[in-house]
Amino acid sequence: MLVGFLYDKFTNSDRNDRPACKRKDLHVKEAHTLPKLDRSPNQRQCALVALQDVKAYLTEEGGQIAVFDATNTTRERRDLIQAFVKENAFKVFFVESVCDDPEVIAANILEVKVSSPDYPERHRERVMDDFLKRIECYKVTYQPLDPDDYDKDLSFIKVINVGRRFLVNRVQDYIQSKIVYYLMNIHVHSHSIYLCRHGESNHNIEGRIGGDSELSPRGKQFAHALREFIDEHELSDLKVWTSQLRRTIQTAEELGVPYEQWKILNEIDAGVCEEMTYEMIQETFPEEFALRDQDKYHYRYPGGESYQDLVQRLEPVIMELERQGNVLVVCHQAVMRCLLAYFLDKGADDLPYMKCPLHTVLKLTPVAYGCKVEMFYLNVEAVNTHRDRPLGNIPRDSAILHRRNSYTPLSSHDQVKRPRLYSAGNQPWLPLAPTPSALMPEGRQSQTRIGSGCLNPCVKESTLTAPKTLVAVSASE
Ligand code: F6P
Repeated sequence: MLVGFLYDKFTNSDRNDRPACKRKDLHVKEAHTLPKLDRSPNQRQCALVALQDVKAYLTEEGGQIAVFDATNTTRERRDLIQAFVKENAFKVFFVESVCDDPEVIAANILEVKVSSPDYPERHRERVMDDFLKRIECYKVTYQPLDPDDYDKDLSFIKVINVGRRFLVNRVQDYIQSKIVYYLMNIHVHSHSIYLCRHGESNHNIEGRIGGDSELSPRGKQFAHALREFIDEHELSDLKVWTSQLRRTIQTAEELGVPYEQWKILNEIDAGVCEEMTYEMIQETFPEEFALRDQDKYHYRYPGGESYQDLVQRLEPVIMELERQGNVLVVCHQAVMRCLLAYFLDKGADDLPYMKCPLHTVLKLTPVAYGCKVEMFYLNVEAVNTHRDRPLGNIPRDSAILHRRNSYTPLSSHDQVKRPRLYSAGNQPWLPLAPTPSALMPEGRQSQTRIGSGCLNPCVKESTLTAPKTLVAVSASE
């Protein structure tokens, strides 16, 4: 959900079988005594186990945001969470999903719960019946968040009838406002996102990266085939987006439909390596070439970008894709990997090696608990531009990586922005400016936020010095 932050999700149901759920010694200093409202003691134990996992994740595993997805529908349970948060100096943001429209409930059960991990057997009638009974049980104990009195000091959002209305209370910081922004923009209407690269370009044929070359004859054939694909699939309400590079624009021109150009969809900026082949880069900049193989996601081309930068750059496109109906994005290899990784929930290690061949359209249809992927090869030959992950264990030269990162805004403790060329370590003798935290008045330093987190589940990176955040989710139909 958030670009630039290490996050993970924790549910009670994942922990049902864990022996620790039967332990009695798990504890959080509670403001109130709890167990009477939990229907089974085991359920409460599972919540405690999940919270212990949250704690380990945020304090030992470098996690920055933990989503605790459970039936946090009683005051006592929420008090327990608050006590846990206080004990560990975390911050908590509650997300309550309230739904009282019977039609929305029925549609939600069929669409969402049938594919839920809670119902592995997927028997539609049984699921409907069981879930309606479950709602009746929860109604007995459900205590909604109360913005006027009991919960007036809590930070939370109530999402009413799947986004028809929202109530937002005491948003405290940047992460919380991003969560609110995200929840207010996503929708659950069925739609598909079509991703493809431009037609084969002249640079592709020569094996050169970057640049702004035109389509090859086969690239033009692909553009034509793409038009037929759109016609055949009757994608009449389709929006088409391109980058501002000629190869994507020429591809879209052939479609005969209006399209929008987005500069932020431009291909990864390879800096000093632009328009070179991989062989030329290896020969001219052997150290750079090796560094990229060591950590392709974080590696930033001198004077250019890293995949990490690209993901940050793409946030507005991703957000807009969440808001829109059917969209075809005609983009580039690295850009397509980032978009795909967002929808398929891939991490930083896999992202830069995902296969996005030329002349192939991927249709992504978000469904509950994932995304359905269909692949259409449009039968026009093209060169293969994919470079596989190098085999074997490439030793990381931590000294070199450290030098590079220490001049890299957004992924280092030193967050002062410098011109891009300096980010590659070209002038390491320049004195570093004081960090923002050193400039803060005493006592406020722990509040310093760094990084520009944005919305996207695929990225699980960057350094964050702000208090760790727990997002506690509860759904109450
Ligand atoms: O080769 C085509 C291309 O789109 C280049 O412009 C770009 O630098 C490259 O793919 C990105 O792929 P990789 O990150 O695997 O080098």
